[in-house]
Amino acid sequence: MRETLAPPFRIKAVEYVRLPDRGERERILREAGYSPFRIRSEEVYIDLLTDSGTAAMSDEQWAAMMRGDEAYVGSRNYYRFEGVVREITGFEHVIPTHQGRAAENVLFGSLIKPGDIIPGNTHFDTTRAHIVDKGGRPIDLIGEWLWDFEHEYPFKGNLDPARLEYILKEHHERIPFILLTGVNNVACSSPISMENIKETRELAERYDIPIYIDACRFFENCYLIKLRESGYHNKSVAEIVREALSYADGCYMSCKKDGLVNIGGFVSVGDEELAQRCRERLVLYEGFPTYGGLARRDLEVMAVGLMEGLDERYLEWRIRQVEYLGELFSRLGVRVSRPTGGSGVFVDVYSIYPHLTDEKLPEVALFADMYLEGGVRMVGAPFPVDFVDLERGEVERRSFKFARFAIPRRALTKAHMEYVAAVMGRVTERSRLNKGFRVVYWPEILGHFFARFEPIG
Ligand code: F0G
Repeated sequence: MRETLAPPFRIKAVEYVRLPDRGERERILREAGYSPFRIRSEEVYIDLLTDSGTAAMSDEQWAAMMRGDEAYVGSRNYYRFEGVVREITGFEHVIPTHQGRAAENVLFGSLIKPGDIIPGNTHFDTTRAHIVDKGGRPIDLIGEWLWDFEHEYPFKGNLDPARLEYILKEHHERIPFILLTGVNNVACSSPISMENIKETRELAERYDIPIYIDACRFFENCYLIKLRESGYHNKSVAEIVREALSYADGCYMSCKKDGLVNIGGFVSVGDEELAQRCRERLVLYEGFPTYGGLARRDLEVMAVGLMEGLDERYLEWRIRQVEYLGELFSRLGVRVSRPTGGSGVFVDVYSIYPHLTDEKLPEVALFADMYLEGGVRMVGAPFPVDFVDLERGEVERRSFKFARFAIPRRALTKAHMEYVAAVMGRVTERSRLNKGFRVVYWPEILGHFFARFEPIG
């Protein structure tokens, strides 16, 4: 095993956490209906629920907070932010939003009409919901490799070109754009390759269809391109990001991931007329185009965070930290999607609970056991995938189930990873004793956020 790199930063402020005792943890779990979304942060020892909005800010970012020019219109923070985003993306127009799904609302609302189809590699759940909300239909053009945790494929986030060709041929009049997500949860946070982005571009050009990129973890994606794709080892991540985005017509980003901020996002496009439509929607849902639903200081903090997120010493450490937790889990016999990518470690819950069938909710069992054994919070859920079956020429709804151990950026040390692995060790030793869970409550909309469960037996 390679050694973990020492982080390229040191700790200047600390935030205390507490591990409730076992009796408390039992009570907390019961009262929370065994849902990670009903537990208070104060009751969690190590929180791996999400890598979104949970990064530790740098001293430069905290200093940027004090440079807020809180003018409603024309704040200097906006112009700094605009300059940084233009430099990173290469697109002329920069529209700030309060987070990623707000960017989805603004961009998709300007592009999608009822009956449209939006093909992509994989759509995240808010992405999917915003497409459906505008009357569109998301289709995931991922390949069969998605369902195989053991398949060591460096770019599991790739779109399957054969499936794209099929959908374009059948439905091109109803496709306003193709959406590519760089490092998506649904594809176990495995990247999409530059070759795949280029191939998508070539196919899209045949029908004159634009491409947009969901860039929330695109720096991690492009760092993984640098590591894994030939021809990119000597390029900087910033250059790789610019090249990848040059094959697209625009992008949007939840800066809560690779942008290293706790809140913020943007849309960035080349087309003037589209940018104007987005700005009009922005005023309706977010705010004036020079603040987009944020405090102006947040724009300044994002400008700093985006540059720090592109720093390769940071990215090297970050990707290695994810890999390290993956290695520790694999040593325990836990099946992990390999090679690991960005954002966190994705686990096949059936490798821990082979005796539990799908209906007995092994993903809920894993959360309950991780919390009970060590106060660790993470989440497992089935993700819907609208998959194209080429043989039958049909789109079918499948689901892809995994547990995600998302790692907040710059917030945790090697010792935290080892603690989580030790808890996982105790969980795997006793997993046979877990008889599974049943649903007590599952609302129709965004079910997994509000659900409650109870143990069987
Ligand atoms: N796209 C992807 C691929 C995401 O993972 C997320 C959020 C969004 C868009 C929406 O961004 O949260 O800023 O509105 N993912 C978080 C997660 C919630 O836990 O993976 P947002």
